[in-house]
Amino acid sequence: MRMVDLIHKKREGHVLSSDEINFVIEGYTAGSIPDYQMSALLMAVCFQGMQEQEVADLTMAMTNSGDTIDLSDINGTKVDKHSTGGVGDKISLIVAPMVAAVGVPVAKMSGRGLGHTGGTVDKLESIPGFQIEMSKEQFIENVNQYKIALVGQSGNLTPADKKMYALRDVTATVESIPLIASSIMSKKIASGADAIVLDVKVGKGAFMKHIEDAKALASEMVRIGKNVGRNTVAVITDMNQPLGLEVGNANEVEEAIDVLKGKGPEDLRILALTISSHMAVLGGIYANYEEAYEAMEDIIHSGKALDTMKQFVEAQGGNAAIVDDTSLLPQAKYHQEVKAEADGYVTAIHAEEIGLSAMLLGAGRQTKEDNIDYAAGITLHKKVGDAVKRGDSLCVLHSNQEQMVDAINKAKQAYTIEEQQPEVTTYVHAVIQ
Ligand code: URA
Repeated sequence: MRMVDLIHKKREGHVLSSDEINFVIEGYTAGSIPDYQMSALLMAVCFQGMQEQEVADLTMAMTNSGDTIDLSDINGTKVDKHSTGGVGDKISLIVAPMVAAVGVPVAKMSGRGLGHTGGTVDKLESIPGFQIEMSKEQFIENVNQYKIALVGQSGNLTPADKKMYALRDVTATVESIPLIASSIMSKKIASGADAIVLDVKVGKGAFMKHIEDAKALASEMVRIGKNVGRNTVAVITDMNQPLGLEVGNANEVEEAIDVLKGKGPEDLRILALTISSHMAVLGGIYANYEEAYEAMEDIIHSGKALDTMKQFVEAQGGNAAIVDDTSLLPQAKYHQEVKAEADGYVTAIHAEEIGLSAMLLGAGRQTKEDNIDYAAGITLHKKVGDAVKRGDSLCVLHSNQEQMVDAINKAKQAYTIEEQQPEVTTYVHAVIQ
């Protein structure tokens, strides 16, 4: 087989066979296929697309390009959850204890963040003592005992995806639905998921800006799941403004705990109930979504989800007292309010600008080597649709750096205040299954 022939074949819009796709992925991972040939093939995929079977084959070839996690010693259906990324997204911290509390095993591998705020691992590490590293045996034991454990990514998972993503980034080939879908799904499958719930964000603060694109990506991932034997549901959710009221790390943990206590902002509560219900159905605990939704509401009201959170924190070495007393989480020394400069309604909050502001405060990494200030972040006092008067507090910035001018300016720019009250926003745009 010759790579040049496969590039030609795809360029002409023909379908690559499973053997041909394996040849490409194995060769590229091993280094026998050079970047320039892979770039040409990726560009051909961008123009010609891929058929359903090709995308499934590509996903499995990438999954098998490195280590895969074997979770077969864990009883039950392992349901993973993935978000395409958004500002203030602490949904994993909420849904993991919720579904674990009803018996779905949560064996989650999560990453650190690069950009506006930390990833799930960074957020959890803001809890004093919390350990995200443990042996595979300990991980499996914790899941079997408590139904929940979370570890940082380790090992050589999906090396083909790492290499291809870096190449796509510099060859203008990121925006291709089959390439994005196979990239995301291969990582989840390699981490041992039996079933997957995808939270596909759409809006100004999301990777997918338009609903049609989000639906196309979601449908492609659900199709991959069907073709490779991993039951998959995608929920398309709004990211036209940050999720919830807290953006950062420790403050996001606090807000997640609030939701587990039956409090917290409505958008976060509804999304957590929606995603956890789909996870519980895929986990085989409930017959349908409606039954699961009721059970998820109960699991919060009964305090069982909160108890599971405490157990989870304690099992991983963290100070579980933070659940009852969140003031034990890291607190920033300095706080600055950003005030409205006009009367009217908040009509938009640019999520990415809020994220960048949080990063400037120390809540996120600009480079992989940066340290995170867990106490840094932003608390939003006003969200889209809220009426404001000049001088009202829009948000408060928290940091251990006294100087916050750039972050204040970014946060101020993120808010749009207009005379006309905007239409009510929807939290969940569509569900694809
Ligand atoms: N996120 C991924 O993991 N992969 C892509 O290709 C795009 C976004």
